[in-house]
Amino acid sequence: MKKLVVSTGAGISKESGVSTFRDADGLWENYPVMDVASASGFRRNPALVHKFYNERRKQLLTVEPNAAHRGLVELEKYFDTYVITQNVDDLHERAGSKNILHLHGELMKIRSMRDERRVYTLTPPDIETSIDTRDKYGDRVRPHIVFFEEAVPNIGPAIKLAEQADIFVVIGTSLVVYPAASLMNYVRRGVPVYYIDPNPSPVPSYVTVIAEPATKGVAHLIDILTKD
Ligand code: OAD
Repeated sequence: MKKLVVSTGAGISKESGVSTFRDADGLWENYPVMDVASASGFRRNPALVHKFYNERRKQLLTVEPNAAHRGLVELEKYFDTYVITQNVDDLHERAGSKNILHLHGELMKIRSMRDERRVYTLTPPDIETSIDTRDKYGDRVRPHIVFFEEAVPNIGPAIKLAEQADIFVVIGTSLVVYPAASLMNYVRRGVPVYYIDPNPSPVPSYVTVIAEPATKGVAHLIDILTKD
């Protein structure tokens, strides 16, 4: 089976009702990004950051995976499929994708501030955290999110997947946040690369751009990849 590697951003979850970050109605329009999503912002005002992620979690419980998430699961019938996602939502998991690598962390997880290896999954309805939340060892917790100014621990395995890809697909990302945006550069020469986004950012000419929303674009991609 050929190895299909799909790199997804906020745009794939847009049709589920999850806001993107940099579109006109995006999250960073309403919240200063360096206040709620940076290491220095968390040090400055941890209560605000807890509140921000509590709201994101509550919202995530109200949405469902869409046809684009499900389409990637369908592609597992034809390809050895891996999803690398910048998204912190769990919609790929809920759609049923088998191999998912989160680059920027996971909204429904928290971790100890003393030992980052202690990661806990929140179970609804207990999804709110605060500066007073402690784990079972009595240590404070923080969102299991990769903040700006922090390293991206999963970038190594993600680069390896990009290097091994026989087909590489990018969906719904503005390609402005690094190192995620650089993954395409690790794809071997001659490997087909597709980019699905209704408002695509500039990409090299070897990339086939499918300028459609994710649900329609993934249906289109399935036609292209399974026609022969
Ligand atoms: P952005 O908000 O930067 O970009 C969203 C992309 O989705 C844009 O290119 C849109 O054109 C596209 N889009 C909008 N509607 C779409 C649809 N229906 N189908 C497909 N695409 C659509 O989001 P990301 O590139 O994912 O990090 O942002 C990267 C990172 O920046 C995020 O992971 C987040 C943020 O700061 C953290 O919070 C750590």
